[in-house]
Amino acid sequence: MSSARLRIRWYGHSTFLVHTPGGVRVLFDPWFTDNPACPPGLKRPPAVDLILVSHGHADHIGDLVPAARDSGAPVVGGFELCDWLGRKGIANVHAMNKGGSQTVAGLRVTMTDARHSSGFTDNGQMIYMGEPAGYIVGLENGLTLYYAGDTCLFGDMHLIGEMYRPDIAFLPIGDRFTMDPAAAAKACELLGVRQVVPMHWGTFPVLTGTPGALRALVEPKGVQVLELKPGETAE
Ligand code: NI
Ligand code: MN
Repeated sequence: MSSARLRIRWYGHSTFLVHTPGGVRVLFDPWFTDNPACPPGLKRPPAVDLILVSHGHADHIGDLVPAARDSGAPVVGGFELCDWLGRKGIANVHAMNKGGSQTVAGLRVTMTDARHSSGFTDNGQMIYMGEPAGYIVGLENGLTLYYAGDTCLFGDMHLIGEMYRPDIAFLPIGDRFTMDPAAAAKACELLGVRQVVPMHWGTFPVLTGTPGALRALVEPKGVQVLELKPGETAE
């Protein structure tokens, strides 16, 4: 089952299913069940070939265990998060750390920095889930994606741009827990991307950043904002 085009489906918040031009289905930060933005008909984890996880907050791994178990797909995440996943009975884990790359499901995946925190409440205890991360993913057609995870703006995004030349960036814009649209606009500039997919907005009232605010800042500079509705797929 392959398709020549890149397809991106948003489940709301930071959960995306990316269907690569080579036919690999990549799931980012699976959160369906308790995700208020996820359409009712899409609450079940989809069939996928690869799962990438940015950090251990519940709004990013809420459905990671069932998604990994049901699909059997390899899961890429930080060392501590993968250790936790292993203790949940998930065996197909491919732990890594920042700066490292590996080829999984035929895709070259590099773990980047992200500035945030990472912990998960399990049986009433806050468990340390390692450092939060982002990902660079090289696609079969030469396009490069950058999925920032949850992060503030940081100057080394310039280095990520210089080193990996991402074409499309998935950036949080909701404010409060991550960047706001103004910071995300600066991130687009540092990264040198031509297209940006806003995420981590609109899920809760406190996430006030909007794609419109981002668009007003970046479109005059030639950056396209790919605004999706939850459940919608962009090509
Ligand atoms: Ni978070
Ligand atoms: Mn989050």
